[in-house]
Order: sequence, then C-alpha cells, then structure tokens
Amino acid sequence: MDVNLLRLHVKMLLEAIVVCVLIILITTAYFHKSCWYCQLQYYYIGLVYHLHDIFNIKNNKINLVSMPDKIAIVTGGSRGIGVEVVKKLLQCDMEVIVACRTPSAGEKIISEIRKSGITNGRAKIYKIDNSSFDSVRQFAEQIKRNYNKIHILINNAAIMFPSVYQKTEDGYEEQWAINYLSHFLLTSLLLPLLKNGGHPNDCSRIINVTSCAHDVGKIDFDYISNNSKKTFCTYSSYGQSKLAQTMSTITMQRLFANMSLNVLVYSVHPGIVKTDLFKETILGNKKWAMAAWKTSDQGATSIIYAAINKDIEKKGGIFISNCIELTVPLLAHDERVQKRLFELSLEQVQLKDFFQYL
Ligand SMILES: NC(=O)c1ccc[n+]([C@@H]2O[C@H](COP(=O)([O-])OP(=O)(O)OC[C@H]3O[C@@H](n4cnc5c(N)ncnc54)[C@H](OP(=O)(O)O)[C@@H]3O)[C@@H](O)[C@H]2O)c1
Repeated sequence: MDVNLLRLHVKMLLEAIVVCVLIILITTAYFHKSCWYCQLQYYYIGLVYHLHDIFNIKNNKINLVSMPDKIAIVTGGSRGIGVEVVKKLLQCDMEVIVACRTPSAGEKIISEIRKSGITNGRAKIYKIDNSSFDSVRQFAEQIKRNYNKIHILINNAAIMFPSVYQKTEDGYEEQWAINYLSHFLLTSLLLPLLKNGGHPNDCSRIINVTSCAHDVGKIDFDYISNNSKKTFCTYSSYGQSKLAQTMSTITMQRLFANMSLNVLVYSVHPGIVKTDLFKETILGNKKWAMAAWKTSDQGATSIIYAAINKDIEKKGGIFISNCIELTVPLLAHDERVQKRLFELSLEQVQLKDFFQYL
C-alpha cells in the first residue's frame, strides 16, 4: 500500500477513536449526571492545591502557645487529621473534648498520645455520630450539662465518595448529613456556650474543616430538597457538602457580626493529606501515589492556625489553607444562595431559628 494512503488511514482511524471516546464520555456524562467530568475536575483541583501545599510548605507552621483556660471540641477527633488537631490542642494545655463515633477508639488514641510523651492538656472523650441528628443533640446536651462555655469548635468529621448511595436515619444523603447538616445543627446548639466563651478581643472560634473540593461543588436545591438517588453523583455530593460548609461560614460570620457576638467562624482546607478519607477512591491502596502528600500533622497545622492565631482575630469568615487566606468560589459569596441554603438547612435539621438557644 502507498505510504501516503497508509498515513491517511491511520489518521482517519485515530480521529474515529477520538470521536468515539468523546461520544462515550458525553453520553455517560448525560446519563450518569456528569460523574466523569466531576472526577476530572477533582484531579485538576487536587493537583492545583497539591502544588499550593508544595510551594507554601514553609508557610504551613504555627507556634503552639499555652492556653490552659481554653476548652475546645474536635469532631472526628479519633482518626486522621482530627488526631493531630487533638494532639496540638493538648500541647497548648487546653481541655480537649474528643467527639467521636466510637469512644473506645478515642480512649485508645489518647493513651497513644500520652505514651508519645505529650502529657499536658486534659482530654475528655464524648460520643457523637454525625449520621444522626438525635446523636448530635444528645452530645450537645451532655456538653451543656458539663460546661458553661466553649472557646473553640472544630467541625472536622467527614466521609468522602461512598460508593453506594445511602440515606441517614433522618432521610438525607450521607455526605450532606454527616459533613454539613450535622455540623450546622451542632453549631447552633453550642452557640450559647461559644458566646459565653468569647470576649471582644479574644473571640471564641468555630472552624469548619471544608475542602478545596468546594471549587467543584454546586448547590443543587432540587437535589438537596428531594435527596433523590436518581440524580446522585457521589463526587458532586461531596463537593456540595464542602461548598455548603464554606458558604455557611460566610453567612454565620455576617449574622454573628450583626448581633455583635464575640464569635468568629473560619473555613479551612487542610491540604491534600494522606488519610483514610481516600479509601473509596482509586488512590485508596496506592501508598506510592500519596507519598508526596501532606502528613496528618501538616494537615492539622492550618486548622490550629485558624483556632489560635491572633493575627486573624479581625478576619472572621475567611478561608485558610497553608496558613494563608485564599479566595473561595464566587458562588459562596452569593447572598441570595446563602440565604436560601441557610433557610433550607434550618428546615432540614428542624430548627425554627439558628439563634433559638441563645
Ligand atoms: N485528607 C485530605 O486530603 C483532606 C482534604 C481536604 C479536606 N479534608 C477534610 O479534613 C477533614 C478530616 O479528614 P481526614 O482526612 O482526617 O479523614 P479521615 O481520616 O477519613 O477521618 C475522618 C474522621 O471523621 C469521622 N467520621 C466519619 N463519619 C462520622 C460520623 N458519622 N460521625 C462522627 N464522626 C465521623 C471519622 O471517625 P471514625 O473513625 O468513627 O470513622 C474520622 O475521625 C474532613 O472534613 C475532610 O473533608 C481532608
């Protein structure tokens, strides 16, 4: 066969393959609600933020100072980044309430922390299951019985990309309920204690551990109102729960400022960190793929920065990563969407008013 003719055939074959792949991707996207596109966005965003971690490694540090009068709560404090957050707060001599699903896991972690030589601070273990509003309420009741003030609330617990669609006992998709709604409810329930803990020049602080995944998120009111499996994409659902955390950080900060409450709210992306969070992803068992990622200790640094750094005392509402203020998706600033989300969240967690316990 003539060489030119052969080249033409190869070229046509390659073009046909590209067209077929595009048709398959677009059809899959159409019928599977753009899951592959969402995944591609995650790889892109993940890479960008991983580079941010690498280039800002020197910035990702915080001096731990002694604050023996402070009381802090950390949800998801018995595994992953949460453990390192607990460790650092103990190193600041604080009383740390480790809120976890399995109290025995919390006890075990504290005993390991003590064995590692960290003897300061006081650790208390409490049970909370973010997949149940009842459990969140019971936890808040116990805390209110035992404390009259709290200085730091770190909303850290989360799950990511469950492969099967599941609703919690309250009827909401897991990621939406565990990552966002339960923390929204917890914050409202503990607000009286946070208010008591804050002073004009030393406000109490709420830290929402959100994620760069908020860049991928959209607030799909039809989906979150119906929680219909038909429209479920585990990737967009995680991004949505994290965007909701970032968005409610801004909303709450504005409301607290309007009411002159001495309470500040921050959202933090801990970095791309090697933890079990990725167990349901293709990277789950590939240690080599995560080799260059942050350790949980490095991931905890920006969270502690948001919890104790004095330079950001007048900067409530900001989004932090690698101890630097970063911009959030434009949508997070849309006050119309913020208001609608806030009202829907109140309805979903069955609160009449976010400030009803104040
Ligand atoms: N790792 C990263 O690269 C990364 C990036 C961006 C943002 N983040 C955010 O950082 C935070 C911590 O993530 P991680 O990487 O440390 O994840 P992780 O290692 O998987 O830990 C998740 C924590 O959440 C708790 N949790 C899960 N479901 C719960 C429930 N129903 N009730 C109460 N607690 C529950 C877990 O407790 P159990 O031990 O009981 O399961 C565990 O303590 C999350 O908010 C995550 O979205 C992480």
